[in-house]
Amino acid sequence: MKVGYVQTSPVFGEKQRNFQQVLELTHTITADLLVLPELFATGYAFISKDEVVALSEEGDMETARFLKQLSFQTGAVIVAGFIEKEKDNFYNAAMMVGNDRLIGIYRKIHLFYEEKRWFVPGDKPFEVYNVNDARIGMMICFDWIYPEACRTLAINGAQVIAHPSNLVLPWCQSAMQTRCLENRVFAVTANRIGREQRGINDFNFTGGSQVTAVNGTILSAAPAGEAYVDVVEIDPSTADNKKINSFNDLLNDRRTEFYK
Ligand code: ACM
Repeated sequence: MKVGYVQTSPVFGEKQRNFQQVLELTHTITADLLVLPELFATGYAFISKDEVVALSEEGDMETARFLKQLSFQTGAVIVAGFIEKEKDNFYNAAMMVGNDRLIGIYRKIHLFYEEKRWFVPGDKPFEVYNVNDARIGMMICFDWIYPEACRTLAINGAQVIAHPSNLVLPWCQSAMQTRCLENRVFAVTANRIGREQRGINDFNFTGGSQVTAVNGTILSAAPAGEAYVDVVEIDPSTADNKKINSFNDLLNDRRTEFYK
């Protein structure tokens, strides 16, 4: 299975420009799974609820149409961030698109910083989807700091975690080595680069998108400050073996009665 990330430099509010950059970066790429950053089409540093509303979409709309085109062009299932509107609620969400359809949506459960002003926290469980011969789960950016996110996806059967991100803290990339090691799962973290200086905020996004293997090895690491794409070959079935040695099985050996 070929999995990869597209590390972009979105311009705030310019969806068409941000779509175009993805197309330019991927025009020679084929893969089975491609992950794009969190909020890749809209940008991140909102200064009003009106901006959130104006850039939001109800599921299968403009961004889904674009991702279907990208999926057709690359052969890949795509996971990418967007603002989901449902009635009067707005979610920092990721959608999975492939085979000309919207396969599923994940709503970010652990909101970071001012996201709490703009979005409602995710209200649906961590789901795993069986696509392109792999079981793929989604989480978004700051979910990395809660080990429960990856653990829940692993318990639910995920072999590969698609992880759209807009990272501003320096620890995620190394933490994902532990998240993968402690669950024996693969992860594809797709981060953005660039700076968004809006309102009171001045965000510098850290790049360094990464594919991490079940033993914590980094299979691909993008540079910190460059738009970048990479695809690597993995065997998702290696995530099914949770044995560390002949005595220890990562998931079966948990002592949940002591975790209260
Ligand atoms: C983040 O969750 N975008 C830091």
